[in-house]
Amino acid sequence: MKSRLTLVLLIGLVLGAGSYWLFALPTVEARGLPQSADAIARGEYLVTAGGCLSCHKGQQSEDDMSLSGGLALATEFGTFYAPNITPDAETGIGNWSGQDFLLALKHGRSPDGSFYYPAFPYRSYAGLTDRDVLAMAAYLMTLEPVVNSVPEAETPAWLNRWAMAGWNRLADFRQGEVEDFNDEQIARGAYLARHLGHCGECHTPRDSLGIPDSSREFAGATLGDEVIEAIDAEHLADWTFNNFDLFLLLGMKPDGEFVGGDMNEVIEYNTSKLSDADRDAMAAFFTRHNSGD
Ligand code: HEC
Ligand code: HEC
Repeated sequence: MKSRLTLVLLIGLVLGAGSYWLFALPTVEARGLPQSADAIARGEYLVTAGGCLSCHKGQQSEDDMSLSGGLALATEFGTFYAPNITPDAETGIGNWSGQDFLLALKHGRSPDGSFYYPAFPYRSYAGLTDRDVLAMAAYLMTLEPVVNSVPEAETPAWLNRWAMAGWNRLADFRQGEVEDFNDEQIARGAYLARHLGHCGECHTPRDSLGIPDSSREFAGATLGDEVIEAIDAEHLADWTFNNFDLFLLLGMKPDGEFVGGDMNEVIEYNTSKLSDADRDAMAAFFTRHNSGD
């Protein structure tokens, strides 16, 4: 009897510890949003460089450039709707604290503790500095609030938000290491490409659970039936720094052809608006195998 009780207690303890490990909210520092005009301007730039508009663009009309959301992202795991990230208190992020933004963008957790689906590229944004996330949040809070509720995600019965607890742990475990850089410009380019620009969300191959394989970073992928080119050293062997720089600005490849598909929006909303220094940094990162040109 006693040993059975011990066993029950032990199982309880293991399950308790396990679910704590899976479901506990990560600790982020509780911080207010920066208020300075400088921080807000930096936030605006970062929201642009982060490509938030590609997904969160308002859908009220063709030229709705608000971040009021509603776009349906159809994937093999279901259809996900980009939420309203304008500061409307009811339907947007009007009541969010700095902590809420850090939890969402860097940990994929909502203010009520539930999990986001990785259709929101929070695993890429996880590498952002807190300072950058809070500047983006400060800028979002200055936008015109728009009232717009977006539909709940439509997923197959086996896939729910809580399952993302396990998925995140598995992804931590499986995703593999990437190289770090000492060169300041290349390190900045890596930060922009890997985190803010989330280039790997489309260009890095994934396994059957949708976990990106960082050991084959930028080695190309398939998204539905669309084949997305590799943008690794092997594929870009002939691209010079200037080729890549021009590509980020205009979407033109070395052979004079213009890129199409979803990449068009990446160029239009994001990379063409980078500062010269940041565009150069990204070009330096992607063409580092050709340094010398
Ligand atoms: C590839 C598409 C995509 C991009 C790019 C993207 N998001 Fe999202 N975002 C989503 C989706 C989809 C969700 C909702 C996920 C879900 O339903 O679990 C989301 C959720 C959010 C939320 C939570 C909102 C809420 O009401 O709970 C915030 C905040 C957010 N995104 C901010 C940003 C910011 C800031 C950027 C740019 C730095 C950005 N997102 C870029 C697709 C995207
Ligand atoms: C939303 C998905 C998506 C994201 C995010 C994305 N790309 Fe792409 N990219 C594509 C698609 C799709 C193509 C192929 C377009 C076509 O068919 O012309 C492409 C093509 C390219 C090409 C041309 C390759 C070739 O040889 O033709 C380059 C270079 C490139 N992307 C770089 C980047 C960089 C750098 C980033 C990050 C700033 C990025 N991409 C982010 C989807 C994406």
